[in-house]
Amino acid sequence: MEGGSREPFGLRAVGSHCSLSEMDDLDLTRALDKPRLKIERKRSFDERSMSELSRHDGLHDSSYSPRGRSVLDTPLSSARNSFEPHPMMAEAWEALRRSMVFFRGQPVGTLAAVDNTTDEVLNYDQVFVRDFVPSALAFLMNGEPDIVKHFLLKTLQLQGWEKRVDRFKLGEGVMPASFKVLHDPIRETDNIVADFGESAIGRVAPVDSGFWWIILLRAYTKSTGDLTLSETPECQKGMKLILSLCLAEGFDTFPTLLCADGCSMIDRRMGVYGYPIEIQALFFMALRSALSMLKPDGDGRECIEKIVKRLHALSFHMRQYFWLDNQQLNDIYRYKTEEYSHTAVNKFNVMPDSIPEWVFDFMPLRGGYFVGNVGPAHMDFRWFALGNCVSILSSLATPDQSMAIMDLLEHRWEELVGEMPLKICYPCLEGHEWRIVTGCDPKNTRWSYHNGGSWPVLLWQLTAACIKTGRPQIARRAVDLIEARLHRDCWPEYYDGKVGRYVGKQARKYQTWSIAGYLVAKMLLEDPSHIGMISLEEDKLMKPVIKRSASWPQL
Ligand code: GLC
Repeated sequence: MEGGSREPFGLRAVGSHCSLSEMDDLDLTRALDKPRLKIERKRSFDERSMSELSRHDGLHDSSYSPRGRSVLDTPLSSARNSFEPHPMMAEAWEALRRSMVFFRGQPVGTLAAVDNTTDEVLNYDQVFVRDFVPSALAFLMNGEPDIVKHFLLKTLQLQGWEKRVDRFKLGEGVMPASFKVLHDPIRETDNIVADFGESAIGRVAPVDSGFWWIILLRAYTKSTGDLTLSETPECQKGMKLILSLCLAEGFDTFPTLLCADGCSMIDRRMGVYGYPIEIQALFFMALRSALSMLKPDGDGRECIEKIVKRLHALSFHMRQYFWLDNQQLNDIYRYKTEEYSHTAVNKFNVMPDSIPEWVFDFMPLRGGYFVGNVGPAHMDFRWFALGNCVSILSSLATPDQSMAIMDLLEHRWEELVGEMPLKICYPCLEGHEWRIVTGCDPKNTRWSYHNGGSWPVLLWQLTAACIKTGRPQIARRAVDLIEARLHRDCWPEYYDGKVGRYVGKQARKYQTWSIAGYLVAKMLLEDPSHIGMISLEEDKLMKPVIKRSASWPQL
């Protein structure tokens, strides 16, 4: 039942102090002590997008006309990039609209799947916060921001609920994993039930939901120019509550966020507990997004100060300890162990014997990536798609690291993309390791689902990363693969197999984020200036760390 104590929001119709893009470009310290500038949003966003785009060779050279479609192209791809949209686009829009959920007449989200081919609904008939993100971006890019605004406000209300698992009360800031609108046809009323982890398989709270909420609030603001939403006391409070869960002082010795297994897109036990890259990258992006929206008044100022400090420490930690390339791999391979005191090189006491064999073959001479996890005597060398793409989008990765991530992707196309973009992680766990790490999970068998399965939804993140790094041609290759199969296979949730050839064993059909992810990728390629919604430029103060490794020549 719907509950919670918050008042409906009276949105102030006031002008903005400062454009978001303006704030993004401010140095972190300046954000603390300079008054905001009064600049008209729309203009500065367009200008910045264009300057961003012109900096990337690939984009500049390859035919993008300023606000839209490609005009010059190679004959091979000219059909694709002509003014004629692919027929799949219309199908996708129809399917996306069919998934829309209404609450008392207003659109508030999209269902996870509208699969009429199975009776086994589980919780796919709910609006998932993370699943709604590509839907929201598609609507924003299409000039339909209302559903996004209603979603942001509805989930904010849900955040205000008291949340419990058995007798244990969850933190105030926790955002739901999903919610469901229940329609009572007799009384003609709508009510909401929400899940904060208390019903979820494994009973884990979704750490990513709050981060996606903040990232989406920024995307909405950036796309519409409507600062009145993010500036409401309710939204300001919502952001602070989410972040206070992460910025509280405790026993931590690292700036990364310690989490339980299954607290994000991979919502089952998959050995992603500790400091998983997906959460760290989203955390970083949410911190930077919040910094561009928080007002420096009252407790806002204190929160901003904490964010600034955390961003410095987090970017250093991630760039230094999570980054892996050929040189770094060689260094770890030669690590001494049992070092004590500040002079230790192998700070986490990683045993070189724990480096899996596959990494040595997988790692190209040119290229690199952020590894899956780093903790005491623990390095998870697996490659994860979402964490690496979000690292590029948020500029957690330095420009050189972003290029290296794309180099690796190109180099290992067969393994990471194969026949269906994009592997959720690489490689899979098998045999004894699968038994120990997943607890014998029959849904996560090798090369399936979260265990090396291929997820079409990841196409939008890949495309956005390609555009940000000036390599749209990589995204086009991936889109071609999707267009060859996704519609024919009825938009599955995921594919199985070493190259992603088979529709996933238990995959839903008409999975909304597969549909929306495709639309977002297409719209991004068509109008790359949309990238500003979901990308943050590098902050000048978070200078790249000087690293021993330099496996690629000057880029
Ligand atoms: C699965 C996925 C999760 C997604 C949900 C709804 O549980 O692992 O990431 O949010 O389905 O699609």
